[in-house]
Amino acid sequence: MSLDIQKGQDLIRVDEEKCEFKVHRKAFTENEILKMEKEKIFDKCWLYLGHESEIPNPGDFKTRRVGGRNLIFNRDTDGQIRALLNTCTHRGAMVCREREGNTKVFQCFYHAWTFNSKGELVGVPGRDGYPEHFNCDGKMNLRQVPRLSSYRGFLFVNFDSNAVELEEYLAGAKEYLDIVADHSEIGMEVVGGTQEYSIRANWKLLAENSVDGYHGFPTHKTYFDYVQSRGGQLTKDDLTGIGRNLGNGHAVVEYQAPWGRPIAKWIPAWGEKGKQEIDSIVQNLVNRFGEERARRIAERNRNLLIFPNLVINDIMSVTIRTFYPVSVDYMEVNAWCLAPKEENDDFRERRLNNFLEFLGPGGFATPDDIEALELCQAGFMNNKEVEWNDISKGMNREPQTTDEIQMRSFWLKWNELMTK
Ligand code: FES
Ligand code: FE
Repeated sequence: MSLDIQKGQDLIRVDEEKCEFKVHRKAFTENEILKMEKEKIFDKCWLYLGHESEIPNPGDFKTRRVGGRNLIFNRDTDGQIRALLNTCTHRGAMVCREREGNTKVFQCFYHAWTFNSKGELVGVPGRDGYPEHFNCDGKMNLRQVPRLSSYRGFLFVNFDSNAVELEEYLAGAKEYLDIVADHSEIGMEVVGGTQEYSIRANWKLLAENSVDGYHGFPTHKTYFDYVQSRGGQLTKDDLTGIGRNLGNGHAVVEYQAPWGRPIAKWIPAWGEKGKQEIDSIVQNLVNRFGEERARRIAERNRNLLIFPNLVINDIMSVTIRTFYPVSVDYMEVNAWCLAPKEENDDFRERRLNNFLEFLGPGGFATPDDIEALELCQAGFMNNKEVEWNDISKGMNREPQTTDEIQMRSFWLKWNELMTK
């Protein structure tokens, strides 16, 4: 099949005058598109690796799949954070089979080559079968990911050694990562375990969904009914806010947080003691940042998409989420909970409960979202007859939370990279 995109006929059609923004449904269904995405997007963009708090001590490591590669994300014995490609330079086996731990060396299961925490080859059984100069150039050491960089504790890798610096790439998204990092005076940390689940849908549907304020009330009706049944007064006006294009395909929706947040917004169910604690958290934020920024941190929600596949839901609890396509119609998702290190036990418990009960794979929100995404993917089987998605909501006005500027930002960057 020869794709429109390769003939210069974009899969995106924009008519500003008519306020129309269309995405061809082939973008979600064609294997050739996915192959191009891997080369032009995942091999070129900065991809989220993890948070520095996950490997606090020398020797700590996690194994993680990022951008379709198996990596060791570790802190070497000198304290430096590294991203090593988890494949033995001998004959390929993954040298680290554990999910996480602390070690001075990684020893390959197959022929027992041994690498230190910097990735240097330090042990070869039967060494006399190799010449003296073997590995004197370091070529048999574990390979490092070409680029590794950090912003406010969030670590990113890039498989393209010529990529722009991370901060330039992050563009307007830095403002929102700053807000998340500023929740804490002493630093944020990943807490609890990793949520791992999969969705029978194209990965871009989750990018769209994660910053889609339009679907909230209809898709998550069960949750809003529940809030109301508990005495919550939630109306569409409570979700008033804005959608923003942050540059480079990044986008955000920012809106009121009427349902309470472990970080600072109090809800009646947390009792008088909870209110006092919340007040003191807010006061501390005011002292550090002034009234306006403190209120913005405490009383507003943000769903942030960092192109192509990092979502930070700075709502209620804080959830970090990444996803990657296994095939055009199947993705794997990982999610972690982020918290201020100084948080007390009560609030930590509420946060972890919220991590499970709202955005967790069995929570109030995620199963509904998965249902919606899988319905879209199933609907795309009709794409010979019905070819285009419409993503034009809000082109006729200042973008609001329930408009679609966020997805348009994503798709414009996607199109730019895919047609390069
Ligand atoms: Fe690792 Fe042989 S493949 S030692
Ligand atoms: Fe949702």
